[in-house]
Amino acid sequence: MFFHLISNRKRIFNAYLADLNRELITSYKIVKHNVKELIQLLKKYEAEYKKDPSERYYTLRDTIRPKNDIEKAARFIALNKTCYNGLYRVNRAGIFNVPIGRYKNPPICDSNNLENVSQALRYSKAIIQARDYRQMILERAEKGDFVFLDPPYNPTSSTSNFTNYTHYGFGDDDQEQLASIFRKLDDRKCRVLLTNSDTPFIRELYSDFATNIKEVSVLRAINCKASKRTGHKELLVRNYDNDPCF
Ligand SMILES: C[S@@+](CC[C@H](N)C(=O)[O-])C[C@H]1O[C@@H](n2cnc3c(N)ncnc32)[C@H](O)[C@@H]1O
Repeated sequence: MFFHLISNRKRIFNAYLADLNRELITSYKIVKHNVKELIQLLKKYEAEYKKDPSERYYTLRDTIRPKNDIEKAARFIALNKTCYNGLYRVNRAGIFNVPIGRYKNPPICDSNNLENVSQALRYSKAIIQARDYRQMILERAEKGDFVFLDPPYNPTSSTSNFTNYTHYGFGDDDQEQLASIFRKLDDRKCRVLLTNSDTPFIRELYSDFATNIKEVSVLRAINCKASKRTGHKELLVRNYDNDPCF
């Protein structure tokens, strides 16, 4: 959403980007401030991966302990590009535990894209923080602001219960709290857009905004069966009629 807005808008706007995942946020900060050193290290990882993908993947995942934030970001990006379907999942101890993916030539170092992302982050002066979304929103959001919420999705079945982006997980109580924050933002006269899965529970939580709920079809990259990556329904929940962003 942020990159969409920044590339479509002529004027600069203040952006606050928050996620609880420290590795993700560290990676964005390094892309913003140290992209040259990051690219150098990713090129090295790419060359090593080509020689022995499996050995390199599991060494990077399980053995190497990054000594600084540039190494942390390079490890995060390299694992993301080579793991099973780009999935991010940690166990209860917060350790990344996704197996290697099946790729012929994964683009571990996409220099062009990294440079562009770095430039967009610097140009926009985006504030990037490893924080709980509740603190960030309640502290920052003011009348007229646009707030985009992209939470871990409510599971669509008992077997698709993936919400482990962080070791805290994201259960039904968290979804209920999120819906109450959505209502608080509505009271503050912010414009709010939220994505989630299409389940009866989510439809019920946002029933006050039922006229502004839109179903969209999406491709799901994370499924072992290619046939199951298509035809999924998600919900866009808004508290406004006219879309200010698109
Ligand atoms: C569906 S992903 C969205 C990821 C991101 N928006 C993107 O486009 O890649 C959900 C994200 O919510 C984050 N998350 C979970 N609980 C959170 C919390 N309490 N505060 C902030 N972020 C949280 C997870 O770390 C995860 O990155």
